[in-house]
Amino acid sequence: MKTTVSIIKADIGSVGGHAVTHQALKDKCNENLSKAVEDGLLSDFYITNCGDDIDMIMTHTNGVDNTEVHELAFNTFMEGAEIAKGLKLYGAGQDLLSDTFSGNIKGMGPGSAEMEFEERGADPVFAYCCDKTEPGAFNLPIFKMFADPFNTAGLVIDPKLHGGFEFEVYDVIENKKVTLACPDEMYDLLALIGSTGRYVIKNVYRRSDGEIAATISTDRLNLMAGKYIGKDDPVALVRAQSGFPAGGETTEPFSFPHLVSGWMRGSHNGPLMPVAESDARPVRFDGPPRVLGLGFQVCNAKLVGPIDMFADPAFDEARKTATLAANYMRRHGPFEPHRLPSEEMEYTSLPGVMEKLEGRFEDM
Ligand code: 13P
Ligand code: 13P
Ligand code: MG
Ligand code: MG
Repeated sequence: MKTTVSIIKADIGSVGGHAVTHQALKDKCNENLSKAVEDGLLSDFYITNCGDDIDMIMTHTNGVDNTEVHELAFNTFMEGAEIAKGLKLYGAGQDLLSDTFSGNIKGMGPGSAEMEFEERGADPVFAYCCDKTEPGAFNLPIFKMFADPFNTAGLVIDPKLHGGFEFEVYDVIENKKVTLACPDEMYDLLALIGSTGRYVIKNVYRRSDGEIAATISTDRLNLMAGKYIGKDDPVALVRAQSGFPAGGETTEPFSFPHLVSGWMRGSHNGPLMPVAESDARPVRFDGPPRVLGLGFQVCNAKLVGPIDMFADPAFDEARKTATLAANYMRRHGPFEPHRLPSEEMEYTSLPGVMEKLEGRFEDM
């Protein structure tokens, strides 16, 4: 029997502005998912949060896109949002675009990343969860894990990885997708995924046998809703070892806190800081953007672990670099490239200014 790992996540309300979700909301998730385990829908789950986003990491045997699992997640977030409203939390129900579930959670606001596989003798799976950024933030680290031999030694020295990986890339503006194989089409792939706001890696497959290796939530809330409401803070699931990158080859890309968009009002670029679960608390200028990493072993559709991958002094230097980069970027204030280009601005303040000044622009 195959095992499915699903992460379904949403921001349904937070304390301290957009800083951190409330324990009462996580308690509600725990209650509903515990019941789903009793009822046999889920095998196991682990609930965490990165900042204001609750990440429900679930295992089951129902396959991806399962209506009952999606409905459980959606209704749980709906009930949590009611509690959030009662506590007057910030952005209560922020990511929920609809009141009623209609078959699949995609397009309803919450983000999802799911994979189904036949369990190996030992099956390490990593969950990476972000806040204050967008799905394209994973393009660089996922590329490095599965295509960069300077990151992943296994691509060179492990015959099981040597054939390379295929990347399924979504064009989130035109709603199209393309699959490119590495190493052969690496430069074509980079030409696309360097544009992180438009081309987003959705899935990675091992070329030798088509086995799923990684999947990323690509849901872009603002594009769905047609206006800014939240920032699509993404999650990724990555398989490791024995024919996939080693666990440490999946954490290694995050030792470089690359610049991502989504900081402050979804409208600024800043470094992605790798943090322990206890530090997933973006409070400086609502950031800087964060990523946490959890390492599990999947065993008969149950989750063993997790290990908090970035709760390690080896990532202190990355956090220091992120702080330096944050200082440097912050000094630009309202200027690009700290502030996003106007066409990518998430809030409507710029168009508001343009409307106001419209009659005052003259031909030169
Ligand atoms: P695998 O054979 O499981 O990929 O182990 C290699 C390893 O972990 C070296 O760090
Ligand atoms: P979230 O997308 O995490 O809710 O953050 C929104 C924001 O504007 C923070 O400044
Ligand atoms: Mg929020
Ligand atoms: Mg968030």
